[in-house]
Amino acid sequence: MSKKKTTGTKKITESVEGKDVSTNTVETIQPSTVNTDQPKSEPPKIAKSEAPVKPAKASKDEPAPQTESLPQPRRSVAFIGSECYPFVKTGGLGDVMYALPKALTKQNCDVKVILPRYKCIPWEYQEKMVYRGSFEMDLCADGATYYVGIMEYVWDGVVYDFIDNEFFFTAGNPYTNLVDDIPKFCYFGKAALAALNYMDWIPDVIHCHDWQTGLVPIYLREMFGATPLSRSKVILTIHNLRFQGKYDIQMISYWSNLPMHLFNKDVLKESYDDANMMKGGLTYANMITTVSGTYAGEIQSPEYGENLDAHLRYHSGKLRGIVNGIDYDMWDSSKDDLINTKYAIDTVLKKKRKNKLSLQEELGLEKNEDVFVIGLISRLTNQKGLDLVNAILPAMIDGNTQVVVLGTGDPWYEDSFRNYEWQYKGSVCANIMYDEGRAHRIYAGADALLVPSKFEPCGLTQLIAMHYGTIPIVRETGGLKDTVLPYNMYTNDGNGFTFDRYEDGLLLDAVNRAKTLYFTERDRWDDMVVRDMHKDVSWENSARQYRQMYVDLTC
Ligand code: ADP
Ligand code: GLC
Repeated sequence: MSKKKTTGTKKITESVEGKDVSTNTVETIQPSTVNTDQPKSEPPKIAKSEAPVKPAKASKDEPAPQTESLPQPRRSVAFIGSECYPFVKTGGLGDVMYALPKALTKQNCDVKVILPRYKCIPWEYQEKMVYRGSFEMDLCADGATYYVGIMEYVWDGVVYDFIDNEFFFTAGNPYTNLVDDIPKFCYFGKAALAALNYMDWIPDVIHCHDWQTGLVPIYLREMFGATPLSRSKVILTIHNLRFQGKYDIQMISYWSNLPMHLFNKDVLKESYDDANMMKGGLTYANMITTVSGTYAGEIQSPEYGENLDAHLRYHSGKLRGIVNGIDYDMWDSSKDDLINTKYAIDTVLKKKRKNKLSLQEELGLEKNEDVFVIGLISRLTNQKGLDLVNAILPAMIDGNTQVVVLGTGDPWYEDSFRNYEWQYKGSVCANIMYDEGRAHRIYAGADALLVPSKFEPCGLTQLIAMHYGTIPIVRETGGLKDTVLPYNMYTNDGNGFTFDRYEDGLLLDAVNRAKTLYFTERDRWDDMVVRDMHKDVSWENSARQYRQMYVDLTC
């Protein structure tokens, strides 16, 4: 394997997906001079893959799909992204990369998911991966080549191909800092395409996710034009426009080996000396999608556009929003082994109380089924409206209310929630950790869930909450606006409590409206619990829309 070569000097201040990173790392980078060969086009020379392997605990003996009863025509899709549950997940992108392919297989799509083979993927999955082949790939401007291994895993009708390279994927977390992440994802995007060619698996559509795959549409047209893959259409989905993969032009041009003329303001150039991987991908993609209709509109405005609003307005003809869903097998309160008492729609009112009591016991809160328990499950970053929560937390604690926070992220928020736990012992619990099981128990045991985000492309926590009969209290932005219908006291309709402007007083007002209903009109509250559990927040409808888009693009 080639040694790491870098070019230029840079101070990093940008945030990366999954974690707000603000480091002062300075990396010195030397241009290298080896050879300038174009990337090899790899021969389709794989051995037949071995029998599909299923993970022991998640496997199901489902019959093969009856394709004649499925929507026609069939389409093949390669998903390319940086994380995917259960292998590696830092947020909602991981959920979507797992659940949407699975939902698409039920819509007559043949889906392969291409992911990095991070070291941190649990051994229970690593050990079941099957070697599909390997090759050397040219990458950098100096022609340095890198190893690309392909490890395969098949589960629930979806094929997962992991790109293996120990040099790029050794860190414990998928995202560390941009000085490492930019080379890693320049490599990953190109290796994903080269792997498809190598496996001779030419999909109708290549579906890329977020900035980490921003170079894929460009590589596809600029470097794979003479390969069979050039037939594929390409879609780029924006899960979070805040993260764009911006770094200096010298560094990105070195690692991508893309021609300098692409570093212009319509494609990859961001500013005088910075390039932007997301921006270039948006230009080259056949379609751009994002994860809710409202966010698709918001990102074309300066307030939400993260400096790409003009670019997105220019490309708005190929931009659309499709709201996320949740996976009903993963989130099923009637079969959830991670919660204390399983429940369904007809038992929720009785059994949710048991879950509340056991949650209080687990967290060391005062055990009382009559108090109002508010949950918050979130990355602790400034996107999530935590300034508002911090501002009103003392006003929420009134002897009848408990607040349970689960999250990690910005140390300032972590400390402030720890401080509130100390100040309001027995009423506030700050779980500064990432814990899937605890998340399930909070969804099951809390009465309401706060999602007061400053911006929220879609948001999954409010969907999971509704599905578990927990009432969301949300700000009307992005997918929160599209999925939570405000409670209407006159018609006794709606799914939750909402507020519009980003102001702490308005959040407090929404919380107080929720409490008033809970404490004074419990029948109406209970109606809403049942209504929310009935609400369709599955992937089915959205998967159908994605499928239709694939068909429209390729017929
Ligand atoms: P984002 O992707 O912006 O973080 P989403 O609402 O789309 O927000 O998705 C968050 C996902 O991560 C949900 O599945 C949520 O349950 C999960 N999650 C967030 N924080 C934690 C945590 N500390 N422990 C367990 N799960 C978490
Ligand atoms: C991003 C967004 C979140 C969305 C998720 C999955 O992380 O912040 O709103 O639900 O991606 O699309």
